[in-house]
Amino acid sequence: MELKEAIEKRRSIRKYEEKEVSDELIEELIEAARLAPSGHNRQPWQFQIVRGEIKDKIADTLYEKMISVEGSTAPHTATVMKEAPVLLVVYLTEENEENFLFDVLSIGGAIEHILLRATDLGLGSLWIGNTKYIEKEMQEILGNQNRIVSTVAIGFKAQEPHARPRKSLSEILVK
Ligand SMILES: Cc1cc2nc3c(=O)[nH]c(=O)nc-3n(C[C@H](O)[C@H](O)[C@H](O)COP(=O)(O)O)c2cc1C
Repeated sequence: MELKEAIEKRRSIRKYEEKEVSDELIEELIEAARLAPSGHNRQPWQFQIVRGEIKDKIADTLYEKMISVEGSTAPHTATVMKEAPVLLVVYLTEENEENFLFDVLSIGGAIEHILLRATDLGLGSLWIGNTKYIEKEMQEILGNQNRIVSTVAIGFKAQEPHARPRKSLSEILVK
């Protein structure tokens, strides 16, 4: 698939087939992240593949914590996490104040590489920020104290969403 096509075809997928994704395919995604640019080439990231009971425990923790919060999208995100076969946890390593902004930006770029490569391989994905509400609980469940910047749900898609609205070029291009 051409890069332009992957950029245009990528969608946030919130419905997944009940079908496993092999470690080999997930490692292809992490390989794409590995090649992303990073400030001072610090590569301040680590990735953990989470499946099965541990993934479901994380999803349930998010659901239970956020279900009573009016208007929150987090409970729906939790149901998506439960349906997707794989959750990729994205950690910030060696956190320090001086590099924080660049490091978080760099991780964002690495995640975008993951999403585009997933599209390229015929996989669906969802970038999840709502796990920020359970960072401490996730660190405990996963036995890892590094900052969790985001998670990414991955699986074979069971929906083909239309493109979501975007601002026009004239709105975002400053003259
Ligand atoms: C930093 C970030 C955090 C996000 N967190 C969530 C989330 O927790 N739950 C969710 O359903 N979607 C989440 N999304 C997906 C956005 O809602 C989605 O990208 C946006 O609505 C545009 O839709 P599209 O990805 O299909 O183009 C997140 C996206 C980004 C970039």
